[in-house]
Parts: sequence; structure tokens; C-alpha cells
Amino acid sequence: MIQEKTVQEAVSYIRSLFQGNSDGHDADHSIRVCSLAMKIAETVPACDKTTVALGALLHDADDPKLFRTENNANARTFLKEHGADDAEAERICRIINSVSFSKNRDKVPETPEAMIVQDADRLDAIGAVGIARTFAYGGKHGRSLDSSIDHFYEKLLRLKDLMNTKEGRRMAESRHAFLESFLLEWNAEMKQ
Ligand code: NI
Repeated sequence: MIQEKTVQEAVSYIRSLFQGNSDGHDADHSIRVCSLAMKIAETVPACDKTTVALGALLHDADDPKLFRTENNANARTFLKEHGADDAEAERICRIINSVSFSKNRDKVPETPEAMIVQDADRLDAIGAVGIARTFAYGGKHGRSLDSSIDHFYEKLLRLKDLMNTKEGRRMAESRHAFLESFLLEWNAEMKQ
């Protein structure tokens, strides 16, 4: 059985897993996603909070951009070593897989827990934090500032309308507005 202390152990696990990663997909990102997910979970009565927390903390533990694992090996091994039975590990891995953009494109997750974690991950991609992460990721992968700006139009500005939960949509509003004002200022400065 998963216990509440497993959540704290997952924080230590991802801190060591992502050590040295500085492109915005790091342990701090997963910890922010967890705290955003817990805020959303407060507003969704029919969800299991421990499952939400673990899904959020481990959602990038097998990200193909960073790890060459199969079948969620990092998350699954951690969970099994920290008391999860097969069904619990499977449930959390399913959340992780339904959050991943590359695996699902725009498919809506099936469980409230997965909807919450996906919203939290999307919230961390917009607003001031999202802007900082976009340029950190672009810089690490040799992209120009202009090509990071393209990413705003291709993906970030769309996220607000893809939110699954009411609270996620509400939280996305000010972050989305901040992206728009950033782009206004960017475009104005480019014309000077
Ligand atoms: Ni993420």
C-alpha cells in the first residue's frame, strides 16, 4: 500500500533523478506541478490526493527527452520499492502517460487525477514561469530567442483553452494574460 510518506520520498527521488538538469524540466518543475495539482485537487472532491501528488511528482521521471527508459521504468521501480502494489503503480503510470503530450496529443485524460495533473503541468508552462522555462529550454537546445517566441504561438497560447478542470481554467487566466502582455512588449521592442 502506498502511504503518505511515499510523497516525501518521491520528492527526494526526483531531486536525485534530475540532478544537473537545467532546461526547465527539472525537479523544481515537478515540485511546482505537484503544488499546483494539490491546489486544483482541493476543488475536485472525487479524487485521491496521494495519487495526484505522486502522479505530479513522477510525471517527467520517464520523459523521453531526458531518459531512455521503457514502460515507465523509473516511476514504476520507485513506486514498487516504496510500497505500491501492482494496481497502484499501474494507476499512477497511467496518469503519467496520459499527461505526456507526445504520447497523447490532444486526447483528454480519463480520470479526475490525470486531468488535474495535466492541468497543473500546463499551468507551469505558461505565466512568468512558463516564459522562463521556454527560454531555458530553447537556450539549452541551441534555439534562437525568435524560435522560442514561435513556441508561444504554436503551443503556449493554446493551453488556456485546453484546461480540463474549472479551477485549472481559472488559474490559467492571469498566466495567459501575462503571456499576452509579454508578447505585446516583445513585439513593440522588436520594432524600435
Ligand atoms: Ni512537465
